[in-house]
Amino acid sequence: MSISPASNSGKKDLSDRLGAIARAIPKGSLVCDIGSDHGLLPLFLVKHGICPQVLVTDLNAFPLERAKSAFAKNALSDRARFLQCNGIAEPLAFRPDLFVIAGMSGKTIVQILAEAEGKIPVGTRFFLQPMTKDAALRRYLYAAGFAIQNETVVLENRKVFLILDAVFDGISRTANEAVLAFGETKFACPERAAYYKKKKESLEIQIRGKESAGQSVLHEKHLLETLCGVLGGLNHENQ
Ligand SMILES: C[S@@+](CC[C@H](N)C(=O)[O-])C[C@H]1O[C@@H](n2cnc3c(N)ncnc32)[C@H](O)[C@@H]1O
Repeated sequence: MSISPASNSGKKDLSDRLGAIARAIPKGSLVCDIGSDHGLLPLFLVKHGICPQVLVTDLNAFPLERAKSAFAKNALSDRARFLQCNGIAEPLAFRPDLFVIAGMSGKTIVQILAEAEGKIPVGTRFFLQPMTKDAALRRYLYAAGFAIQNETVVLENRKVFLILDAVFDGISRTANEAVLAFGETKFACPERAAYYKKKKESLEIQIRGKESAGQSVLHEKHLLETLCGVLGGLNHENQ
């Protein structure tokens, strides 16, 4: 099942961002939500019969307590295991089918995955939703043996969220700078244009900043040219 950015069909117990992730989770999987905070995603998965059991983790005690009370209020505490831990190393012992790491910077997600290097079983799936630094995350995933199967864009309150669907297969890959910066163009979805536009704005800001500091902008200009070509292609397809 792939992540679809369609709206959350009126269900207000989850944001569109987390709703898109929830809808893509294969029924019956053992999901581990890393850095769950409020616990809304795993609670939704159990409440809606998507997962019989879930693993709910957070680095910090206060958010984990918040997640525990959300499950308790719904009389579903027996369907979750709560772990206060750093990253994925400890929950890996429970052999989850799928990890969700959402709402964190791409840098933190890379750090979490890198700390578990050599311990992740082949076939483990990851839904990753970086708030920033998605290029650094792709660079790490390609090099460290994760196959990116899909990328989805969700728009919520005029904000653009990216969700990567990756499986660990242990095969290291290379990708060109444009793929690292913007993802593979085959991952098309209607919201992808908004993601490209955000990338374009950010590149233009970087170029202006570097130019005024007298620095070289060759790399950024090359990326911008590639991106304009992709956007041009999308506009052409939509005509
Ligand atoms: C901004 S919240 C995101 C909550 C939820 N995942 C979402 O997408 O709405 C980030 C949470 O991740 C937790 N966190 C940060 N680094 C972590 C790590 N290395 N391992 C586990 N949890 C972490 C924080 O304590 C915080 O509760």
